[in-house]
Amino acid sequence: MQNIKKVVIPVAGHGTRSLPASKNVPKEMLPIYNKPVIQYVVEEAVQAGIHDVVFVTSKEKTALEDYFDHHLPLEDVLARTGKNDLLKTVRDLVEMVTVMSVRQKRQLGFGHAVLCAKSIVQNEPFAVMVGDDIILGEDCGLKQLIEIAQKEDKPVIGVMEVDPSMVYKYGIIAGNTRSDGIIEITEMVEKPSVEKAPSNMAIIGRYVLSPEIFDYLEKGKPGHGGEIQLTDALNALAKDRGMLAVPVKGRRFDAGDLLDFLSVNVYFALQDPKMKDAMHNRLQALLQEFSNN
Ligand code: G1P
Repeated sequence: MQNIKKVVIPVAGHGTRSLPASKNVPKEMLPIYNKPVIQYVVEEAVQAGIHDVVFVTSKEKTALEDYFDHHLPLEDVLARTGKNDLLKTVRDLVEMVTVMSVRQKRQLGFGHAVLCAKSIVQNEPFAVMVGDDIILGEDCGLKQLIEIAQKEDKPVIGVMEVDPSMVYKYGIIAGNTRSDGIIEITEMVEKPSVEKAPSNMAIIGRYVLSPEIFDYLEKGKPGHGGEIQLTDALNALAKDRGMLAVPVKGRRFDAGDLLDFLSVNVYFALQDPKMKDAMHNRLQALLQEFSNN
């Protein structure tokens, strides 16, 4: 497989899980610790060697493109007041990636969103990331997938085991696990009930795909929830050409899930040497206060 240069990140959704916080602020711009959600996702792509980011977007989401562009009045103030560290922080965001965007004019599903990027991606292999999934750890996530996709010359998707009671929230795969842990996919189902799920291996929003997926998406019929699902197109492609799944290392947080959203904030605070002790003490005090009630 050729080098993967572009990542497609669908961001047009309304973020209903994060309402009312996401009513006027895109859910991808909500902060986790000291950065917006989207920055963690883009940083994972950069760690995997990708510098071209394609947002599949809507008219409410221009803040995402602006975030990775210059903010000259702000930079001017930071320069004049000698806040050089902060100046570097905001300028580094601009240097980090080149952003391209395409509008998803109608919300017809995740697969439809990926198809909207066809004219930008053209005939090259590319990555797809779900903007809600944050995967933390060295050499985890997309980087793992790209290494395997290039070695094996096949599309690769990231999976993680989930509790069987949670399968209805994910695309679920079935397949044969090789001795190196990589799974040769035999079937994929979007958000099955626990009774119909072929396993508890869930797709976690990281994909390395070949451009032929666009042909399958173009032929795609509405699936789960009446939407054009990427999982259905992948299932058809996997059956025709073969596809691999890789159990992704690292820790995953779903930024659209309130408990995960709160936990990942605490996780970063406990990891930050400057904040760790204070956060620990604050948590202990809160736990004590609530255990007394
Ligand atoms: C999408 C995919 C699903 C995958 C999930 C991972 O669903 O359709 O297969 O498991 O991302 O986050 P969504 O969360 O957009 O409903």
